[in-house]
Amino acid sequence: MSSRSLMAANWKMYKTVEQSLAYARELVRRLEEEPVFDVEQLICPTMPALYPLVQRLAGTSVRVGAQTLDLGQEGANTGAVSGYLVREAGAEYVIVGHSERRQLYGEDDTLVRDKSVAAAQARLTPILCVGETRDQRQAGQTDAVIVRQVEPVIEALASDADLVIAYEPLWAIGTGVLPEPKEANRVAEIIRQVVDRIRPNFSRQVRILYGGSVNRDNICDFAAQPGLDGALVGGASLDVGHWLQLNRFWREVRA
Ligand code: PGA
Repeated sequence: MSSRSLMAANWKMYKTVEQSLAYARELVRRLEEEPVFDVEQLICPTMPALYPLVQRLAGTSVRVGAQTLDLGQEGANTGAVSGYLVREAGAEYVIVGHSERRQLYGEDDTLVRDKSVAAAQARLTPILCVGETRDQRQAGQTDAVIVRQVEPVIEALASDADLVIAYEPLWAIGTGVLPEPKEANRVAEIIRQVVDRIRPNFSRQVRILYGGSVNRDNICDFAAQPGLDGALVGGASLDVGHWLQLNRFWREVRA
């Protein structure tokens, strides 16, 4: 298991370029005063803010990622942004298969698999999002859903690919309703088992995050779970003070 914690901020469709840059300025200023060691911080802004944010955060410890990518490299694909273009803009990570992409834009497991491969080929680290709906959980299908979502990606990725998997139960995203941290840990173990069944020992190079309604009141309980390597944070990442607190709390628990 990789020991480096990863805290990833998913800004979704929030923040203009100006607002993103103001956040970055403030983040860098506060990190200079009081650095957060041993936690890799990643910000995933809107597409228009990606390149300006990369420029602003160059030379700092904060990484930048994209929230999605399209297949291919270059071509007559109006409106599309390929992994290649995202990487050239300076992103190092890309979120793949977020439930909002699956639900709002019809991304299925096959497309998510292909996007994960495209990300790796573009030298981006995919953050593969997996998770069950409320109905699936109530029907006892959580583990089967996770296996179905993880398996094709591991089968398709090259053995030296970097990979992050975020367990995000759909019913916990933006709702304030959370799974027991121990249950998130159990699912993380299921993910590791699936990964290693397909490719022995591959899970050692995969970091597993929890995502869904993480905030400063609950982060310590998730940080205390040994199977989790970080968190994917939506709403609570939009305020720079709250975001820094999350990073500090995670670090304190893991130190
Ligand atoms: P949330 O979002 O923290 O606002 O629940 C998490 C996510 O969608 O990745």
